[in-house]
Amino acid sequence: MLKGRRILLIVTGGIAAFKSLELVRQIRTAGGEVRAILTKSATEFVTPLSLQALTEDRVYSDIFSLTDESEMGHIQLSRNSDLIVVAPATANFLAKMRLGICDDLASTVVLATDKPVVVAPAMNVRMWDHAATQENIITLKDRNIKFIGPNEGEMACGEYGLGRMSEPTEIVNAIQSILQPNRPLLGKTALVTAGPTREPIDPVRFIANRSSGKQGYSIAEALAAAGAETTLITGPTNLPVPSGMRVLKVETADEMLAHCMESLPVDIAVCAAAVADWKVANKSDQKIKKQKNINCENLSLSQNPDILKTLSNADNNRPDLVIGFAAETEDILHNGIRKQKEKNCDWILANDVAMGTQTFGGDNNTIHFVSKKGTEEWPVMKKEDVAKYLAKKIIDEIGRV
Ligand code: CTP
Repeated sequence: MLKGRRILLIVTGGIAAFKSLELVRQIRTAGGEVRAILTKSATEFVTPLSLQALTEDRVYSDIFSLTDESEMGHIQLSRNSDLIVVAPATANFLAKMRLGICDDLASTVVLATDKPVVVAPAMNVRMWDHAATQENIITLKDRNIKFIGPNEGEMACGEYGLGRMSEPTEIVNAIQSILQPNRPLLGKTALVTAGPTREPIDPVRFIANRSSGKQGYSIAEALAAAGAETTLITGPTNLPVPSGMRVLKVETADEMLAHCMESLPVDIAVCAAAVADWKVANKSDQKIKKQKNINCENLSLSQNPDILKTLSNADNNRPDLVIGFAAETEDILHNGIRKQKEKNCDWILANDVAMGTQTFGGDNNTIHFVSKKGTEEWPVMKKEDVAKYLAKKIIDEIGRV
């Protein structure tokens, strides 16, 4: 999503500086390159070495260092980037930006740049509310500095209010909207379920299935890349946490449903999770001993909620487009058509998950697409390509909603 984009990250000295490490990780996962500048006070909160390890580049901090200036002058640092992000931005740094004070490398670079500048402020709520800070913000916004956050919440100092730095995901989204302003799903919201669910039998055993989560993760990534503000609700998988979206990890179908309902309203819902149909009604708080000679009759199962059906029938909050999968081993198209009707969703992507097909856990998928208008056969595709193809269809459709 940020492939080939060069982000210059300025970290100033606040307790939120630790989040800059996760921000670097997320920008890099999205394909971007990061070069970092630390102010002197930032080095009290995060070490140049940790940023250097994550950016895989040297970290700059001192305008008066001969090596910093000769290897990459302050003008060059800005020239060689597509966007500057200041995260966290302290009250002091915002004041310096407003006045044009340039007494260190970080402040000199923001004064010398003609690139877009995003700031993610972090400070105590009283400092944020102070007239001096508020005036600085108004002036900086007038100069086209893009503010992201701060968020409301508990602060390191124990007070509550506006002043927490935005989460790295929100900052990555803001960077993307500036660098790629014409993405077709900007302003839309999406929710994607992915992976298997695990239904506990006792503290050490569970019922699950072979889903890898690959298809759902690729769909969430394709929607986020197209600009949708995306929430991925995922059961346990071995996949890396994707960037540029909110990721909620769950174990059971009940937890997955609860997070889906909390995430409403959304414009688009894609249920790609392989939700376990059954949960153990009489799950044990202690490990069940084999001496008890447990057999199937002792294990009583009850049906899990159907998340796709619940979303499709959500009274006031039904997403504009509800999309599900049908995991089948026989009569694929016929079962897909039946599921679309029974669950009242808009589209079903029916796929063959029989043992030999390698759909569960593998990299490819063959989709039989079902909508209220009819059916389509998609060729065998990589799961990432199925995701991109689906995203394109969603973009075409959502324009008409
Ligand atoms: N689904 C869901 N909640 C469930 C079961 C399924 O949201 N408790 C969703 C899946 O994410 C998928 C669709 O419903 O989008 C179809 O899932 P599938 O496993 O193919 O079908 P089931 O409804 O479980 O029916 P069956 O097991 O009889 O095939």
